Amino acid sequence: MKNFENKKVLITGAASGIGKLMAEKLAKRGAVVFVVDMNLEAAQTVVSSIKSSGGKAHAFFADVSNLESLKKLKSDISALGLGLDVLVNNAGVVFGGEFEKLPLEKHLTTYRVNVDGLVAMTYLFFDDLRKSKDANIVNLASASGLIGLPYGTTYASSKWAVIGFSESLRLELLERGIENVHVTTVCPSYISTGMFAGVKAPMLLPWLKPEAIVEKIIHGIEKDCAFIKEPFVVKWVDLLKGILPLKIFTFVNKLLGVSTSMTHWKGRA
Ligand SMILES: NC(=O)c1ccc[n+]([C@@H]2O[C@H](COP(=O)([O-])OP(=O)(O)OC[C@H]3O[C@@H](n4cnc5c(N)ncnc54)[C@H](O)[C@@H]3O)[C@@H](O)[C@H]2O)c1
Repeated sequence: MKNFENKKVLITGAASGIGKLMAEKLAKRGAVVFVVDMNLEAAQTVVSSIKSSGGKAHAFFADVSNLESLKKLKSDISALGLGLDVLVNNAGVVFGGEFEKLPLEKHLTTYRVNVDGLVAMTYLFFDDLRKSKDANIVNLASASGLIGLPYGTTYASSKWAVIGFSESLRLELLERGIENVHVTTVCPSYISTGMFAGVKAPMLLPWLKPEAIVEKIIHGIEKDCAFIKEPFVVKWVDLLKGILPLKIFTFVNKLLGVSTSMTHWKGRA
């Protein structure tokens, strides 16, 4: 994706945090943004602010964990007749806590939103992306998709699934000679949006600023990057996991405070 001028960009979870910032920044670069969220009122506020700065945007309700809701979204967006160039699967939830003390429903909701929702969105909008001359699928995973995260078992494992899905799809498109659809997997550590309020950031992994990470994501889409891993140390996780004996790797995680970072997670009030 060389530039965003007049490109049609759909962002899930765009009513707050990373999704909202991306929507605002891409609209400034000339994209037409479909702001999708289960919080329609907040999505409409984002759209109003984009429009008042001269940008183009449309607000849509969707609960990505509900297939009927996604089918309606697909038909509402198709009705606009604008097509789609970039799909940003950003909506996500986290419920921290000791595994068995968290209600099962919270664990399962994490998968329904972070995994089922992301796969369903990609499936439903894939035909539109194939019709675009130059399309991108951008999946928000996490650094926790590369490493175990105590007190965030289903969140981390949902992100492992996102990475596995994104990478498999990227390779499948290459195998099938589909050159116009690129897949980017985003793996950041903790970002100060509020989703992980209460967390103690590990050593070497300071809180990322939303503004900075969104710029990296946009740059990554422009370059059709397969992976965006931030901060720098996250790029080393796979290598370290591969070469260090498990006991030492586990010890290093504990030493850096990765294993205990989620102990006091509060999330959004
Ligand atoms: N914040 C971090 O530290 C961090 C780190 C790594 C990855 N991520 C990932 O980045 C993405 C965005 O995170 P954020 O910090 O901006 O979160 P956020 O909580 O600020 O925003 C998430 C948005 O998703 C929406 N949403 C939640 N469930 C939904 C559903 N079922 N259907 C539709 N919309 C729904 C919410 O209403 C909200 O607007 C998530 O996928 C998250 O897992 C975040």
